[in-house]
Amino acid sequence: MSDYETIILERRDRVALITLNRPEALNALNLAMMNDLVTLAAELDADESVGAIVITGSTRAFAAGADIKEMAGNSYMDAYLVDWFSGWDRLSAVRKPIIAAVSGHALGGGCELAMLCDVIIASDTAMFGQPEIKLGIIPGIGGSQRLTRAIGKSRAMEMILTGRSMNAAEAERAGLVARVVPADELLDNALATAATIAGMSLPIVMMAKEVVNAAFESTLTAGVRFERRLFHSAFATDDQKEGMTAFIEKRAPNFTHR
Ligand code: CAA
Repeated sequence: MSDYETIILERRDRVALITLNRPEALNALNLAMMNDLVTLAAELDADESVGAIVITGSTRAFAAGADIKEMAGNSYMDAYLVDWFSGWDRLSAVRKPIIAAVSGHALGGGCELAMLCDVIIASDTAMFGQPEIKLGIIPGIGGSQRLTRAIGKSRAMEMILTGRSMNAAEAERAGLVARVVPADELLDNALATAATIAGMSLPIVMMAKEVVNAAFESTLTAGVRFERRLFHSAFATDDQKEGMTAFIEKRAPNFTHR
């Protein structure tokens, strides 16, 4: 694994924990952090000893958005020619599950980064918002699309048009987050969920992620057909034989991730 300037990597068995580490800027997402994060995520995706990834920030901020100081002087041509923020698309190409453990501010690009992950677990101090409109811009890392799919048009419109943030309880009611936990239990909770996932068969976990994501990209009929094909292909794995045999023999399965 390479060294990274803006993030910290720790390994807990089959779980990789990535901590965003620009505390002086409330983890504002500059281009260096985007490059570090997507490069590391691709490395972890290719590493068979990793079963799940957790991304977290600090207690005060998951991430307070894209780096305004880095963006402020940009012209249209600067943004267009480098296709500003398109690098984040590489995170959505990761095939292993990514859990966002969110405490404090998850604003703008921070909220969008959380939504790029597969599961959001929030501390009771978390605040989610897309305040770009107050800066004279709109969301630029997929927020207009992912927030709308996650919480519906009316709520997403209100948040994106006014810049108002949601607290953790509201985010849970709206379906943005999987659950809310006390702040001092956030990391343990997210790591335990990641460990549970990492204990399952890796290829089956990857199929499950792929098929749930297909719900956002296809019609119901096409999605159900795709699910059935992947369901059938699960029977080509050793882990299906092991999982079902273990059930019948009343013992825990010993998945080999094959
Ligand atoms: N970019 C750059 N620096 C940021 C930042 C950001 N998004 N958010 C916070 N910082 C910096 C502050 O400038 C400050 O730095 P200095 O100490 O050098 O002044 C430091 O982090 C601490 O921030 P505050 O002093 O403002 O802390 P606070 O507790 O008073 O307020 C906050 C916290 C409400 C989150 C406030 O910092 C804030 O409003 N931040 C900006 C939030 C925002 O607008 N995010 C959207 C960015 S645009 C975007 O993300 C576009 C996109 O979709 C891709």
